[in-house]
Amino acid sequence: VRPARVSDLPRVAALWQDLLEHHAALAASFALRPGARRRLERTLRAQLDDAHCVQLVWEEAGELCGWCNALVQTAPPLLVEQARAEITELWVRGDARGRGIGRALVEAIAARLRALGAERVEVRVAAANPSAQRFWRALGYADLVDVLERRL
Ligand SMILES: CC(C)(COP(=O)(O)OP(=O)(O)OC[C@H]1O[C@@H](n2cnc3c(N)ncnc32)[C@H](O)[C@@H]1OP(=O)(O)O)[C@@H](O)C(=O)NCCC(=O)NCCS
Repeated sequence: VRPARVSDLPRVAALWQDLLEHHAALAASFALRPGARRRLERTLRAQLDDAHCVQLVWEEAGELCGWCNALVQTAPPLLVEQARAEITELWVRGDARGRGIGRALVEAIAARLRALGAERVEVRVAAANPSAQRFWRALGYADLVDVLERRL
């Protein structure tokens, strides 16, 4: 596991594209605009320059097999907590799953988020993604809020 570098960005963008397409197949709300791919690298570049953002990759034999992205956020001033984090993206390539890479990425990113001052970490998991639901629970993540939606 190591931090993502500028030279990784085209390959990370390809992993992100796979993650977005995976979610687009799960629910209509995740449908992608035509041309979404072109925005990914620019967004990733901005995140690399953001001190509140952590991006880790899993590299194996020169190939990127996994990627995890997270942000540290200041808590609203009404709360006791000062700062929390959100893991916004996690993807392990299909042929590399079930070997502990997802767990290793999440544990490594959690350590970095703690070092940046975050007191806890959140993740939004699609209800239609049962394997990810099981993954996060296996890592000790528990229900906090149900996000409900209705088409307008
Ligand atoms: C979810 C995902 C990141 C898991 O990565 P992974 O490297 O295969 O997971 P690990 O091998 O580290 O598994 C860790 C634990 O999660 C659980 N787990 C992982 N995949 C699971 C599955 N498909 N079904 C049930 N449990 C699963 C296992 O209990 C495992 O526990 P163990 O360490 O005691 O064996 C990967 O399947 C993935 O990229 N999925 C598609 C994208 C996605 O859904 N991302 C999450 C968005 S919130």
